[in-house]
Amino acid sequence: MELKANNISFSYNKNRHILNDASISVESNQIIGLMGDSGSGKSTLCKILSGYISNYTGEVTLDGKPIPDKDFYPVQLIFQHPEKTMNPKWKMEKVLDESWKVSQELKDTFGLKDSWLTRWPSELSGGELQRFSILRALNPKTKFIVADEISTMLDAVTQVQIWEALINHCKSNNIGILAVSHDPELLEVFCDDILKFDEINNL
Ligand SMILES: Nc1ncnc2c1ncn2[C@@H]1O[C@H](COP(=O)(O)OP(=O)(O)OP(=O)(O)O)[C@@H](O)[C@H]1O
Ligand SMILES: [Mg+2]
Repeated sequence: MELKANNISFSYNKNRHILNDASISVESNQIIGLMGDSGSGKSTLCKILSGYISNYTGEVTLDGKPIPDKDFYPVQLIFQHPEKTMNPKWKMEKVLDESWKVSQELKDTFGLKDSWLTRWPSELSGGELQRFSILRALNPKTKFIVADEISTMLDAVTQVQIWEALINHCKSNNIGILAVSHDPELLEVFCDDILKFDEINNL
């Protein structure tokens, strides 16, 4: 399967274009890295790919066809700040179950502790919360993961542990990954290709 963004143009307001004819492609068996200056529009492109922004021109396709947006969106975005995507009035058990029934084996693989499930989002660290948002995104219907600076807040050991678990899961389930990071060394470890944002965006 191929996730493709073709000639995407977008601006939040008329004064400034963020994306101009931007194009990118990821295959199911690939991990593509994306690097670029802060404020250049990487997160904006991530949101377009995963269905959070729809008023763009150009097209986003899966195997050449528009992405169905009813039911479950097959391109799942994992954000840098997991707490922003969680209902503060839900305990973690409900936050996780909202997406799908995650197996105990997968919880263990991501180092998710049972005792965290009965806490509120505000009672967990950024790294602990990020494990929940990754597991939520790994719904069996997911075909692509867009990982937007997901490990910036983690220490080096946790970063490696989480990325290894995510990559292993995606490789064995044929899920493609677009990984945005400011850390070239991290991307070089696991990406098949690393793209520079200003080379895929024609501003
Ligand atoms: N909702 C919004 N309304 C108006 N402008 C926005 C909005 N979101 C982002 N922007 C602006 O669009 C530009 C691109 O933002 P974006 O978050 O895509 O950059 P980025 O490449 O992800 O940066 P970083 O590396 O710092 O995360 C920035 O100048 C930002 O201020
Ligand atoms: Mg960003």
